Amino acid sequence: MLDLPYFDDLFEAFRYGDLKCEGMWGANVHFGYWQNPTMATGSLADIIAAGKRMNEFHYRRLYLKPGARILDVGCGFGGAISQINDHFTGLDLVGLNIDSRQIKRAEKRVQGNKGNKVSFVEGNACQMPFADRSFDHLIAIECAFHFESRLEFFKEAKRILRPGGKCVVSDFILPKLGRPIAHKFLNQAWWFRRWGVFHPTSLNDYRDMIRTSGFSSVHYEDITNETIPHYDVMTNLMTQEKLYPVTRKESLWASIVLNVQKKMHLLKYFLFESTMGL
Ligand SMILES: C[S@@+](CC[C@H](N)C(=O)[O-])C[C@H]1O[C@@H](n2cnc3c(N)ncnc32)[C@H](O)[C@@H]1O
Repeated sequence: MLDLPYFDDLFEAFRYGDLKCEGMWGANVHFGYWQNPTMATGSLADIIAAGKRMNEFHYRRLYLKPGARILDVGCGFGGAISQINDHFTGLDLVGLNIDSRQIKRAEKRVQGNKGNKVSFVEGNACQMPFADRSFDHLIAIECAFHFESRLEFFKEAKRILRPGGKCVVSDFILPKLGRPIAHKFLNQAWWFRRWGVFHPTSLNDYRDMIRTSGFSSVHYEDITNETIPHYDVMTNLMTQEKLYPVTRKESLWASIVLNVQKKMHLLKYFLFESTMGL
């Protein structure tokens, strides 16, 4: 199984009963989205709302009409699926994750309502256990940096989507200028070990991979600025509020280093929206 030490920490915190940690990462394990970053308040409620906005920023690009079958790749604890389930009707929602512990937690948290069907499946994003042309659209929120090959993932996405389907992915991008420094901090530094494997990539690699895998159009957006408040909130919660597992030295350092890297634009956050030809 993929080594995901930060998920080990989260499960330990949930067992310990850390409600703040559960509030912050119990549904969404990704960065928040602030349309106006100067409005971020730094509270736990603000970061939870920003996490939901990030989900919406992905799924609002899809045609979520009744009858559609939607896949969330690397679905974590089912936060995005749960939100779609609450706001739309008549959908078949499927979450895919390589980690069976996350699948179990997602199954407990999210059941289909309003005529939606919800299921969670254990499997690898680079070898998806689904038939050709079996989904209308897919999202993959902040998980592709873990995949052993993003190209294989996009090829699989192309295979399982129906004509006209959309694939909406958010991911970390290393700009050319800062790549050697950022790569060193992200992959080799001791404080990053708890964040698991991080495969670096560039914007050019991304555009090439999406086109090579056969999608007919690619639209992308740099949303680094809209995620920046997350770093201060996360670091403050770790230091002042003493979230249980993440007060470990490594995780705190990782969040500080990430914060600096993002503010210096050595690490960027992009959303890619690719469409299948008809
Ligand atoms: C940062 S978390 C994001 C989780 C979820 N998308 C969210 O936003 O809450 C990264 C996720 O990718 C999943 N993951 C990593 N490699 C994977 C793979 N090869 N196939 C499927 N899921 C994978 C992890 O288990 C984890 O749930």
